[in-house]
Amino acid sequence: MTKMARLPPIVFGHALRGLWDLADGATFLNHGSFGACPKPVLRAYRALQAEMEAAPDQFIEGRIMPNGEQTALRTTIDRVARFAGTSGARCALVENATVGIQCILESIDLQPGDTILLTNHQYPAVLLAAAHRCRRSGASVRIATIPSDSTPNDIVDRIGRAATGSVKLAIIDHISSATAMLFPVDDIVRSLREKGVPTLIDGAHAIGQIPLDIEAIGADWYVSNAHKWLYACRGTALLQATDEAASITRPLIASHFVDLGFPRAFDYPGTRDYCGWLALPHALDFFEALEPDALRAHTQQSIFAAIYHLSAAGATPASTPRGLAMQAFVLPQRRPVEATDVAWLKERLWSQARIQVGANAFDGQLLLRISAQAYVDDEDFHELAVALDRIGWPGR
Ligand SMILES: Cc1ncc(COP(=O)(O)O)c(C=O)c1O
Repeated sequence: MTKMARLPPIVFGHALRGLWDLADGATFLNHGSFGACPKPVLRAYRALQAEMEAAPDQFIEGRIMPNGEQTALRTTIDRVARFAGTSGARCALVENATVGIQCILESIDLQPGDTILLTNHQYPAVLLAAAHRCRRSGASVRIATIPSDSTPNDIVDRIGRAATGSVKLAIIDHISSATAMLFPVDDIVRSLREKGVPTLIDGAHAIGQIPLDIEAIGADWYVSNAHKWLYACRGTALLQATDEAASITRPLIASHFVDLGFPRAFDYPGTRDYCGWLALPHALDFFEALEPDALRAHTQQSIFAAIYHLSAAGATPASTPRGLAMQAFVLPQRRPVEATDVAWLKERLWSQARIQVGANAFDGQLLLRISAQAYVDDEDFHELAVALDRIGWPGR
């Protein structure tokens, strides 16, 4: 019997840092905000741009606009959709989660007296977009309050109890931004469906960070940023709709394909740089080459290392870790958080220690958020704890 050659296991941490363009001498612990595109994906993106510049008509007309249904863009969407547990026929690419959510807000019918249901963990731009849409139609936003120490059952209960009256849409995070909490979206969607409430899951942080089965979640719409945890070029997000929801889902921009209905109506929003979208298969190749199970084991172990190191500097986890690559910490203050505290903390850690973190004000508290990633080492969290101890934070 011939023996199969075994590849050595991937060594995560600083050994992989050269795969990214991240600045030398800096510690990057905020992958969750804007992502970081690896060099092989950027190379593929730039090669596509070179092809586009060499023959613009052939490129756009050949890959995006053919009369037939199976464009290069559609083949790309089919692959990423399969990866996320759904089908390309139910998915479109959009610029980002903000655009995807805005499309749904504009697609639904809202009348005076109707409600859009959100939670107090909602990403601020999403809250603003919902409030803006409501203002135009006489509808209103309702906020379900979820304490950060809630159990999954508590979360389902609290959202269910807030879903009374004429709720036309519930927008629920899969993974919240400031608090980095995992929401039990399958149970939330099921309970809201029983009440006849349509759901849009904001999975901005989900694809690539956790295994994803969009069909199993069963929401009317699901949106996820591929440019965060799936290593895609910025400006790449997946928008999925069930067949029923697809019938009312319209793009923000009406262009040549507008009469084709969802999803193809989204495929050609006019002349733009489509190279980032077309480079998406390269991001998936990169992600898969990192061995997703091993990567996840690394990021989960890193979160426990972060809790160990940051606890020594006086930070306490804002919520129970539930298998994510992000964790928020409360930085205890002698007074409620003030508007300038977040910028102070981020600026000092960067200017005095060259450490990039996420930070937010939430529920009167100052939250620090860290992201584990393939290129992050446990020693990065030790370095952050030492810097925090030295620099402090406002109101410590
Ligand atoms: C939960 C959540 N929703 C939406 C967004 C918006 O993402 P984008 O700026 O890519 O549209 C973010 C960004 O971090 C987020 O964390």
